[in-house]
Amino acid sequence: MESPGLLLAKADAAFERTTPPVRGSALYCGVDLGTASIIVVVLNCDGEPIACEMEPCQVARDGLVVDYMGAIAITKRLKGRLEERIGAKLEMAGIAVPPGTNNANSGTHRNIVEASGMEVTGVFDEPTAANAVLGITDGVVVDIGGGTTGLSIFKDGHVIYTADEATGGRHMSLVLMGRYKMSYEEAEAFKQNPQNAGEVRAAVLPVAEKMAGIVARHIAPYDVKEAWLVGGAAGLSKIEDIFTGVLGVATSKPPYPMMVTPLGIALGILPEGVKLEC
Ligand SMILES: Nc1ncnc2c1ncn2[C@@H]1O[C@H](COP(=O)(O)OP(=O)(O)OP(=O)(O)O)[C@@H](O)[C@H]1O
Ligand SMILES: [Mg+2]
Repeated sequence: MESPGLLLAKADAAFERTTPPVRGSALYCGVDLGTASIIVVVLNCDGEPIACEMEPCQVARDGLVVDYMGAIAITKRLKGRLEERIGAKLEMAGIAVPPGTNNANSGTHRNIVEASGMEVTGVFDEPTAANAVLGITDGVVVDIGGGTTGLSIFKDGHVIYTADEATGGRHMSLVLMGRYKMSYEEAEAFKQNPQNAGEVRAAVLPVAEKMAGIVARHIAPYDVKEAWLVGGAAGLSKIEDIFTGVLGVATSKPPYPMMVTPLGIALGILPEGVKLEC
């Protein structure tokens, strides 16, 4: 069984590197349609990430699709690029929706992916998808995406509480825009440049503390002893230390936190036997 860290590293490397699949074998896609980007991860029949594509976009807000045609166009493009790299058709995909999403909204996600030419064979809620990678039984999983901070408390392997509040990576970029008089795009690039890690961390500390404060408030009634951070904005340097301080709960983050949910979605649609080996 491969460690989550190794699988995540392989998923991230698959943006650049393509592993040719065995001819005629089944391929499994995880499509993560978020507020900041759409990410598609492709697994081979052994559950190994073989190719990955993403595009930044603004087609969803607060878990709702606001640009249906735009979302279809991007998903089709990502699928086309992946098929060209892999040299095979992609036919099966899993999707994930924020917890508490109603059938109409998860139906919209499904329709977008099906309009791109893939059959949706699994619909998961986002924390369950993330936990297919992390495998925690008790604790809180915090997903810091582009627009929101979502949290899911697990007890005995089951989700017992979820919440989602509107502070995400976008708010970090807004702070950088104001401080350095940059455009939004410049602030995004500045934030994600590892050379600026220390400066960015200092500038957006109040935003990260606010996120941790949100989580602290929601977990207070529960006996939570462990926290995990996932989602792109968890890429902020040492954000886990900020959370550990505010929550008073040991907080960890896997490598490549942005890849956790898309990888977990794809793992979720693997046939049972393969899933056990992962
Ligand atoms: N290295 C990094 N440091 C800080 N933030 C980062 C880094 N890399 C990406 N991000 C931020 O992560 C966010 C996108 O994360 P993610 O892909 O998890 O969001 P999403 O799933 O599209 O959004 P949501 O879950 O809110 O719908 C963006 O705000 C982006 O700026
Ligand atoms: Mg997300």
